Amino acid sequence: MELLSAIETRKSIRAFTKEPVPREIIKKILEVTLRAPSGSNTQPWEFTVVSGEVLENIKGDNIEKLLSGTVVNSRSNGYIGIHRERKVELAKDIFALMKIEREDREKRLEWLMRGFRFFDAPAAIIIAADKSLEGSWSMFDIGAVSQTICLAAVNYGIGTCIEEQGVVFQDVIRKNTSISEDKEVIIGIALGYPDPDHPANKLVSRRESLDVITDWLGF
Ligand SMILES: Cc1cc2nc3c(=O)[nH]c(=O)nc-3n(C[C@H](O)[C@H](O)[C@H](O)COP(=O)(O)O)c2cc1C
Repeated sequence: MELLSAIETRKSIRAFTKEPVPREIIKKILEVTLRAPSGSNTQPWEFTVVSGEVLENIKGDNIEKLLSGTVVNSRSNGYIGIHRERKVELAKDIFALMKIEREDREKRLEWLMRGFRFFDAPAAIIIAADKSLEGSWSMFDIGAVSQTICLAAVNYGIGTCIEEQGVVFQDVIRKNTSISEDKEVIIGIALGYPDPDHPANKLVSRRESLDVITDWLGF
């Protein structure tokens, strides 16, 4: 697939078929992803690929913890101004497609739980980095590696959703993987074959126009 076409067609997929993603294909995606850039070539990313029983246990433990009322320490809690507006707009767009009314707490909870279940994906990649890297370029680098994974996945017809929800309970991730206390769990990426009929997958998220966010100088 052409590069620009992959960039244009990649989007977050929030519903998957039950078809497993072969380990060899995930390996190919990760192999090519290793070419992603990083500050001083530090390559801070560490991958844990989960599927089957391990992923099911993570999903189950996440839901148990969520329903027990544990506070979710999300990095996206603190948005204000235009960034909050865009976050709210995204939620409204998804809920409209899912036909979830604002007051419908049950359906909203069901949607929230899907996020904590990696949108029922058959596989996921968890990305962690050494805690000593905090304050370095590692977050930026992991952003680059995440997008590279998602683009490479497009090549194989695999849908992805970069997601915090699945990994926000770090203790759940540690319990079910070998990620130790000296590593920060940064992000998860749900992987699977997109369910073409699911309303959430119809979403094409909005973008600010280039004119609004770009200053062209010296042309
Ligand atoms: C760092 C990061 C964390 C994200 N966490 C979540 C998440 O927890 N749940 C979710 O549904 N989407 C999550 N997303 C997906 C974004 O909502 C999505 O990328 C954004 O709305 C743009 O839509 P698109 O990916 O379809 O282009 C996350 C994306 C990023 C980059």
